[in-house]
Amino acid sequence: MKNKISFILNGEKRQLEVGPQDTLLEVLRTKLGITSPKVGCDRGDCGACTILLNGDTVKSCLILANEIDGQEVTTLEGLMEHGILPIQEKMVEKNSFQCGYCTPGFLVSTHALLKKTPCPTKEEIKEGLAGNLCRCTGYTPIIDAIIDFTKKNS
Ligand code: FES
Ligand code: FES
Repeated sequence: MKNKISFILNGEKRQLEVGPQDTLLEVLRTKLGITSPKVGCDRGDCGACTILLNGDTVKSCLILANEIDGQEVTTLEGLMEHGILPIQEKMVEKNSFQCGYCTPGFLVSTHALLKKTPCPTKEEIKEGLAGNLCRCTGYTPIIDAIIDFTKKNS
């Protein structure tokens, strides 16, 4: 049986009906046209579906849409409402991504990390991004871009 939920998505109030088994990831992608969260493992391992729920990173494949009633969801689309993010520019400059499938999840996690810890150590970066997997880069260019970015901004 469908349930009506109401929540804030990227700053706008949204209402829709969802089924009891619908995940937030499915609803974002198929009902709301929000495609930055990617379907990777679909079981909480890869971080490709990372979004912010009330400001904290969560894996949207693990959240039932019913659970977000009354809450605030932010995706990369919301973070990019004013255009490309400065950290994103740095990551492009540093070749931090190859196929790009993991990129939205990494950018959301990096945003959350830098908000909490503006000048993270290498260990703090690794810890902050521990929930995101990348099959292409070996992580070094991603970590180096964040270190470079935070040095220039400190
Ligand atoms: S698709 Fe959600 S963690 Fe992999
Ligand atoms: S760039 Fe391909 S998975 Fe990360």
